Amino acid sequence: MNRSGISIKVYENRDQEAAAVAQRIADLVKSKRGKGEKAVLGLATGATPIGVYKELIRLHREEGLSFQNVVTFNLDEYYPMQPDSDQSYVAFMQQHLFDHVDIPSENINIPDGTLGQEVVDTYCEAYEQKIVNAGGLDIQLLGIGRTGHVGFNEPGSTADSLTRLVTLNEVTRQDAAPAFGGLKNVPSQAITMGVGTIAKAKNIILMAWGEKKAEIVKKAIEGEITIEVPATFLQELEGVEFVLDKEAASLVS
Ligand code: GLP
Repeated sequence: MNRSGISIKVYENRDQEAAAVAQRIADLVKSKRGKGEKAVLGLATGATPIGVYKELIRLHREEGLSFQNVVTFNLDEYYPMQPDSDQSYVAFMQQHLFDHVDIPSENINIPDGTLGQEVVDTYCEAYEQKIVNAGGLDIQLLGIGRTGHVGFNEPGSTADSLTRLVTLNEVTRQDAAPAFGGLKNVPSQAITMGVGTIAKAKNIILMAWGEKKAEIVKKAIEGEITIEVPATFLQELEGVEFVLDKEAASLVS
């Protein structure tokens, strides 16, 4: 039984799951546009949200969905990382969404992986403030890592953590190794929004699909709330939805 406040939606397959999330985002963007307001989206990388971005591009091309009034904040970026590197989250977002829609480039925010160590803390504070100044995140999209991380908030991240430089867990680095052509090329650090940053979003949608995510999804929803599995902090929040396919939901009781 799900005793937390998390609401769970299960779809037949990952395409339907992606379409449902894309529709939620499209509805928000349109309703904000009708009021002359901006929609502020917190975006995630990884394989999980690719289908959502694909569907948003289709809605833009075929149904005239405009991103002119959209402001985005990405969750994280490797550190150090050059934006033109194939593995950067800047490249990922351009490839999978930004290059294909009409979002103004000045509305796009992704943590900067090129900064010197000495300015990172100040930069992270400013990133946090920029989200606040934009009016806060209307929807934060999340995937989940095998360690139960959200963004790059690895085990040990506190519920009130904010945007900061973090050290990546070995499991996470191993999962990223194929994309980097080997473990030794995977950066050992990243800049990530904190659990506390994510918690302030008005709506949080955590997506997962496939059997490989079933165990960590069950832990996130039903497990004891612990710093060891940062996604369990979501149980304490309002407005959190887990959007899953049948496989990812298979162990949830
Ligand atoms: C990375 C990202 C996370 C993402 C996770 C899962 O660690 N920083 O934001 O949720 O990978 O990735 P995938 O969706 O490929 O399973």
